[in-house]
Amino acid sequence: MSDHTGAPSADTPPPGCPAHASAVHLGGLEYQQTPSQLYRTMRREHGAVAPVLLDGGIPAWLVLGYPEVSYVTSHDELFARDSRRWNQWPNIPQDWPLLPFVGHQPSVLFTEGQEHQRRAGVITEALEGVDQFELTRQCQVIAEQLIASFAGSGQAELMSTYAHALPARAVLWMCGVPQGTTGTEQLVEDLRISLDAGEGDDPVAAYLRVGERITELVKEKRERPGPDVTSRMLHHPAGLSDEEVVQDLISVIAAAQQPTANWICNTLRLLLTDERFAVNVSGGRVSVGDALNEVLWLDTPTQNFIGRWAVRDTQLGGRLIREGDCLVLGLAAANTDPQIWPEAHVGAENSAHLSFSNGEHRCPYPAPLLADVMARTAVETLLERLPDLVLAVDAAELTWRPSVWMRGLTTLPVRFTPSVQ
Ligand code: HEM
Repeated sequence: MSDHTGAPSADTPPPGCPAHASAVHLGGLEYQQTPSQLYRTMRREHGAVAPVLLDGGIPAWLVLGYPEVSYVTSHDELFARDSRRWNQWPNIPQDWPLLPFVGHQPSVLFTEGQEHQRRAGVITEALEGVDQFELTRQCQVIAEQLIASFAGSGQAELMSTYAHALPARAVLWMCGVPQGTTGTEQLVEDLRISLDAGEGDDPVAAYLRVGERITELVKEKRERPGPDVTSRMLHHPAGLSDEEVVQDLISVIAAAQQPTANWICNTLRLLLTDERFAVNVSGGRVSVGDALNEVLWLDTPTQNFIGRWAVRDTQLGGRLIREGDCLVLGLAAANTDPQIWPEAHVGAENSAHLSFSNGEHRCPYPAPLLADVMARTAVETLLERLPDLVLAVDAAELTWRPSVWMRGLTTLPVRFTPSVQ
């Protein structure tokens, strides 16, 4: 439908796009259990680039093919990050649920070209300064403290008490936030609420408190630098302003916490439910590494990522993509693309998955290594301390969160022999 100027009216899919007439609503119950089947069906019915509807019926493209996701992410000149070029803004209500992820913010996430290289370069170098041995030691200390808080009871819900808490504390430690103070505990809690609000939580208020605390941290580190990510960002020769460092630090902390937490939890689930790992779980360091990698192929934490916006009209996977269209990176679908697994065997033998994305805006180089240190230490320490750990419910009773974006469990209840740690 067009108005008299020929421009699209506010409530229609992209002009001339018959594909969106049969678009798949992204969301719904399928995601809670078996997104892989849904991706397979979508690929069969729509090909490598499927027309989808986001919350509120907003049209977008879901890029499902491994070659197509690789192409989109490595062609910034065609598919860029600044969401202000979206042709759907006139249709987006002020309380649209995806606004926090899609609305433009002055952070590294939405910058392009030289400005992105400047900002991402500072983050890369600041993260490169993290000593991986020291991070391992710190994660062990955090893991021991968390385990001690529930070891005596013989049971725990690992998602909230362990998988979420450990990366939050580890990332704050990397950024130079002092450990163990009331203020830090509040910050860990506010991070949880702002990234993953439960019933009765106020995510907006929590996010504001996170912003205030990070602003204070930046002020403190400007005056008294230390051997931490924040100080290295502030004193980098690129000369970022305090406001830029605040924005990018919040991005780093948020980008690190959620996916690493789900990586830990999804790996524990695999180890506790799949008999291939059962034999070697306790102390089986080799199988922990295998499980971590297999999760990145099969249950990757960031299953879909929004996104990229077309810079001009172009073609992708046989589709006509219009200038300003939104593309969602189907990272989980790409990882299980039958084109790269012709034998239908998705293996854990290599790490050519797209779980950390690809191209200029990929998860910045040292971050996947640091996330690996956190996740590996979290899983290994838990299995060493509680060697007879088992699920407290039937594997079939575990439920996935109803999210199209993050792949993670709602809870992971376990039991074990109580011990004093
Ligand atoms: C220490 C832990 C981590 C840190 C510090 C971190 C940091 C970041 C940052 C700063 C970005 C934005 C990059 C940019 O726009 O230039 C990013 C993007 C991303 N990260 Fe990470 N991250 C961490 C862990 C993870 C994990 C565990 C996963 C998933 C397994 C992950 C997946 C991604 C993805 C998919 C993107 C989007 C890339 C794109 O736009 O193409 N990250 N990360």
